Amino acid sequence: MNPQLSKRANSLGTENAFVVLAEVNKLIAEGYDITSFCIGQPDFPAPMHVQEAGIEAIRAGKHGYTPSAGIMELRQAAAQYMGDMRGLQIDAEDVVVGSGAKPFIAYTILSTTDYGAGDEVIYPVPGFPIYESQITINGAVPVPLYLREARNFAFDPNELEAKITPKTKLLILNSPQNPTGGILNKQNLEDIATILRKHPQIWVFCDEIYSRLTFEGSFASLASEPDMQERCIISDGASKTWAMTGWRIGFTANKALAPAFTKWVTNTDSCASHISQWAAVAAVSGPQHDAEMMRAKFLERRNLIVKLLNEVPGINCQASGGAFYAWPNVTELCKMTGLNDSEDLRRKLLYEAGVAVLADIHFGHRVPGDGQHIRFSYATQNENIVKGVERIAAWVGKNRR
Ligand SMILES: Cc1ncc(COP(=O)(O)O)c(C=O)c1O
Repeated sequence: MNPQLSKRANSLGTENAFVVLAEVNKLIAEGYDITSFCIGQPDFPAPMHVQEAGIEAIRAGKHGYTPSAGIMELRQAAAQYMGDMRGLQIDAEDVVVGSGAKPFIAYTILSTTDYGAGDEVIYPVPGFPIYESQITINGAVPVPLYLREARNFAFDPNELEAKITPKTKLLILNSPQNPTGGILNKQNLEDIATILRKHPQIWVFCDEIYSRLTFEGSFASLASEPDMQERCIISDGASKTWAMTGWRIGFTANKALAPAFTKWVTNTDSCASHISQWAAVAAVSGPQHDAEMMRAKFLERRNLIVKLLNEVPGINCQASGGAFYAWPNVTELCKMTGLNDSEDLRRKLLYEAGVAVLADIHFGHRVPGDGQHIRFSYATQNENIVKGVERIAAWVGKNRR
């Protein structure tokens, strides 16, 4: 018998965006003309002063390992930055730098639950698929909390309360949110805090990687609510704000968990890229005009795509409060074109209209009663947005019954 993969490896989930992207790239390589709304990363280069800081770090010989928690300059800059945005005092010692914000999802689950002990983690659905796959693979129990279209993609606090048990160890929040673009507003956060005060055993992972891309109201974090900071793991990073996805820099803040996170980094990556850490210092504490320019562009594109999508018969799209995703309801469109569901529609759009999107099933099971959705990442130029939605409209014109 040949060596076998573990059951764990066989059951590991993935980010379907990467799978669809491979499908799209294959079609493009075969010569198909595809307008893609699949990829969740800014389409801008990192700001020039950030690039210069990276080059300077290379030339200055910053080639070795750093402490696992990161260079003190970045921990200090990130502590100040995250604290200022949330009105909190954050100590640099409580900040840990990682290779992106993503690894902290696993580190948090690993640091707050025990394998096979029945520990429960409540997480948003639809949501970033890595939440569910990391909960499951690390032997905890995934407990979905539905984001409701009627609530602008926030959840019903009564549903949260009903899902909490003595086994609940961790709640994952994401605002602004992938894939819906929804945000948790101040009222939502107050409601959550009121519930959590009754359950002091629950940690909260605040995935705030899109914090700077908030379009409705101002960004707010659960960590800023009274009594919440100690239990909140604030997670932010360089990827989305400064267009640095490939540089791989994320940072978290939590006093009690920072030493555990540091050990996880020692056990996995050793440290984040030394060069990228210096570039991130420049990003976090340098001039912000590029970040502001990118935010303004994303807002302009949001307004454009939402307007255009709502002009297509059968599509109903809310203006997303943040991030760079539109999450239109396509229930009516599926009916009008005789399709079973959003995944059927996604395939038709790819193969017949030349438009690549993701379907709701790539972000967990569908929310009961909320119909069918597809996700557009509008981190692409206005011309592509116009062309892509025109193609969809033309396809609908041909296929509606
Ligand atoms: C909700 C959410 N959290 C975390 C991440 C990971 O970001 P990073 O590139 O910093 O690992 C992403 C990236 O797509 C995301 O959408």
